[in-house]
Amino acid sequence: MKAVKDNLPQSKWLKTKLLLQSGSIKRYIPDTRRFSKSNLEQMIYSYGMIYIKPERGTYGNGVIRAERGEQQGFKYQYEEIVRHFDTFEAFHKSLAKKTGSRSYLIQKGIHLLKHNSRRFDIRVMVQVSPKGAWEATGIIGRLGHPRKIVTNYHSGGKPMAIETLLHSHLSPHRLAQLTEELNVLGVRMASHMRKTYPKIQKIGVDIGLDRSLTPWIIEVNMNPDPYIFNQLKDKSMYKKVMRYRRLQLKKKQ
Ligand SMILES: Nc1ncnc2c1ncn2[C@@H]1O[C@H](COP(=O)(O)OP(=O)(O)O)[C@@H](O)[C@H]1O
Ligand SMILES: [Mg+2]
Repeated sequence: MKAVKDNLPQSKWLKTKLLLQSGSIKRYIPDTRRFSKSNLEQMIYSYGMIYIKPERGTYGNGVIRAERGEQQGFKYQYEEIVRHFDTFEAFHKSLAKKTGSRSYLIQKGIHLLKHNSRRFDIRVMVQVSPKGAWEATGIIGRLGHPRKIVTNYHSGGKPMAIETLLHSHLSPHRLAQLTEELNVLGVRMASHMRKTYPKIQKIGVDIGLDRSLTPWIIEVNMNPDPYIFNQLKDKSMYKKVMRYRRLQLKKKQ
C-alpha cells in the first residue's frame, strides 16, 4: 500500500516500458506485450513457451505458463492445473475467459535453470546506502515448488543461497562474475527508474537465467520483501538489508 501512496508504479507494463528506454538495460528484457489474440498467436508461435501474467499481480498470483505441444496443440498451466487444447482457437478462447476483463501481459518464456528438477530464479535487492548511493545489498535464489510454474515464496517457493543452486551450473569464478553483472544491472535499473520516480528507495529485481546462463529481467518490484534473506543460514545479507531499511524508515519520519 505504501508504494501506492508514494506514487511508485505498480503496473508491470509501465515498469517494462520505462526500463526499455535505457539502452543498457533493454537487452535484458524479454519481449513483453499486452494480452490480445494477435499477440498471443504471434508470441506462442515465435517462442513456443510464454508467460501470461496480470499487469498488476503479486506473489505469483494469476500467472500462467503456456506452451505449444511437441507435435501439435497447446497447453497452459496455472497453480497446479494443466489444460490441453487441440486448436489455437480453443486455446485462446479459454485464456480469454480466464483473463476476463482484467489487464494481462504476455512475456517470452525463459526456460529457467533447474536444481533437483525444480525451476529457480534470482532476486536482487538494491537499496539506497547510508551514504545515499545505490547499492546491491542482497542476492538470493528462489526454488519453485515442484508442481508449480512460479518461484515466489508466497506460492511455495524456497529461498536458497545462489551458490547452492548454481554450483552445478558454473564455476565459482563464473558465479562471481555473474553476481557482479547482476549487481551492476540492479544498480543501473534503480538509478534509471529514479529519474522518473524520485521517491524510490529500494527495488527487488527478479532475474531468470536460461540454459545458456543468460540473465533476463522477469520483473522489478517496488516493494520487495526484505525477510526472504532471513531464510539464509548466513545472516550477513539479511542484517545489511535490514540496517539500510531502518535507515530509510527513519529518514521518512
Ligand atoms: N517470462 C518468464 N519466464 C519464465 N518464468 C517466468 C516468466 N515470468 C514469470 N515467471 C515466473 O513466475 C514468477 C512470478 O512472475 P512475476 O512476473 O515475478 O510476477 P509476480 O509479481 O506475481 O511476482 C517469476 O518469479 C518466475 O518464477
Ligand atoms: Mg515477482
